[in-house]
Amino acid sequence: MSDTTKSFLDISTVSTDDLNAMLSGALSAKHARVGQPRGVPDGQRPLEGHLLAMIFEKPSTRTRVSFDVAIRQLGGESIVLSAADLQLGRGESVADTARVLSRMVDAIMLRTHGEEKLHELASEATVPVINGLTDTSHPCQIMADLLTLQEHKGAIAGKSVAWVGDGNNVLTSWIHAAGKLDFELRVATPPELSPDPAALQWAGLNGVELHLTTDPQAAVANADCVITDTWVSMNDADAANRHNLLMPYQVNDALMAQAGKDAVFMHCLPAHREEEVTGSVIDGPQSVVFDEAENRIHSQKAILRWCLGKL
Ligand code: CP
Ligand code: NVA
Repeated sequence: MSDTTKSFLDISTVSTDDLNAMLSGALSAKHARVGQPRGVPDGQRPLEGHLLAMIFEKPSTRTRVSFDVAIRQLGGESIVLSAADLQLGRGESVADTARVLSRMVDAIMLRTHGEEKLHELASEATVPVINGLTDTSHPCQIMADLLTLQEHKGAIAGKSVAWVGDGNNVLTSWIHAAGKLDFELRVATPPELSPDPAALQWAGLNGVELHLTTDPQAAVANADCVITDTWVSMNDADAANRHNLLMPYQVNDALMAQAGKDAVFMHCLPAHREEEVTGSVIDGPQSVVFDEAENRIHSQKAILRWCLGKL
């Protein structure tokens, strides 16, 4: 990656000013599209002629479709690739893949397992690289979630956000966001599934208002937002053990009743009803999960524009 290439690898690596500019750009872009068919490009086509390659080494519904819609509405096009379609899947190096794609497209999005592959791709590519989820983080999701939180609850700074469940990749990006945008993050996990130590170390060094507990009720008390995620992420093998550990962390009506009166419920999806969240909560009046899903389009338009110097 050259010094001037702007890759979106983690929220922790982007300045607060740039994150705020992306959120504000996303909101304006969303408002400008109200009532238009989804296939109609935005008026100014800011990324006309630009090509985005998307590589998926894991399944995806939202990330895949929202990036494709986003780049089309910006006037560009995408090429969607699974690992099985690429020589990468049968041993070509990440470095050579990065060099080749950098001669052919304007940006690369990667969904992969270990974050080392993402970082190697970004260091060898001469075009921006976007993190479309790794086992370690999911920054694009949290940009959509922040937009959703702001839409429903107003200014993000000073809000209290409660995470209940597995200390996983999505939580790590929430920890990064709390450090950049100055909100309180309370995290309730079983001791065995606590957050990534590297994220906790980052939080310590960056003054994050982070409260760790094993008690879901303590985490959600009067919170503005309650969040959970699947108990078994795509990289997890021990499903039965996780279900046992996480059952006391289910987000249900009794737990939501401990949160603030107008608290919103968030989940990045895909969800498993009656596991990490009851149907009564995720399909109830406090749930904003489909706003989060839609906001993937609007926030990723801002991320693409930022990466390509057009925000
Ligand atoms: N939330 C999210 O990233 O969904 P997908 O796995 O469907 O892309
Ligand atoms: N934590 C989940 C998020 C899916 C979007 C996973 O990694 O599978």
